[in-house]
Amino acid sequence: MNDKQRVAHHAATQIRDGMIVGLGTGSTADCFIEALARRHREENLRVTTVASSLISTVKARNAGLPLVGLEQLTRLDVYVDGADEVAPDLTLLKGRGQDLVREKILARAADLFWVLVDPSKQVDRIGERFPIPVEVMPFAWQLVRTGLEAAGAHPELRLKDAGAAVTSAGGVVLDTRFDEKLPPTAVDRLLNDLPGVLEHGIFRELASTVFIAADGRIEERRP
Ligand code: 5RP
Repeated sequence: MNDKQRVAHHAATQIRDGMIVGLGTGSTADCFIEALARRHREENLRVTTVASSLISTVKARNAGLPLVGLEQLTRLDVYVDGADEVAPDLTLLKGRGQDLVREKILARAADLFWVLVDPSKQVDRIGERFPIPVEVMPFAWQLVRTGLEAAGAHPELRLKDAGAAVTSAGGVVLDTRFDEKLPPTAVDRLLNDLPGVLEHGIFRELASTVFIAADGRIEERRP
């Protein structure tokens, strides 16, 4: 078992009978889907799942997990996903995929948000390794880019094949680097207040537990 599989297995063992479980997107979330499906199959664990992306929907369906659509939910017990960066205060950077909007809706709506990482995801400051993905209404992308540049940031339109990459919510993404002196709280506020921004990759005060797998052990961090 590698670290991703180990942390995913650990989280899956903590799911209780009857829970409604949100499934994240990415290679770590894939390991969790497999571990949860194994418990469903082998231990008759009853769960209802909801996926944060088409790819996780397909993965969960192929693994035999009972799935419902996001639009059918009024609540969920736990959302389980990976992250691209984790800061010491458990602020996260997410969304290098195409499903940021669903991911944040599920992370915010769930009673618990469990984040599964290995030590390579730990950083001193959000944005240290990756630009912050800012998902934008397509018709507003140039105005949002101007707004971000006016705040001293450096946005770049994410491209795919011959055009802009389009997310599952129909947005385009400005991968944006901010001045490192600007605290994540200020960046979060700026992005939340900018009209045309659909969602962004800073997940602040959302994680209830971060599970970190290293050297065969699992460390649990809580805010
Ligand atoms: C997708 C995400 C993923 O959770 C993040 O990119 C981590 O992926 P991986 O588990 O493959 O390292 O936020 O939008």
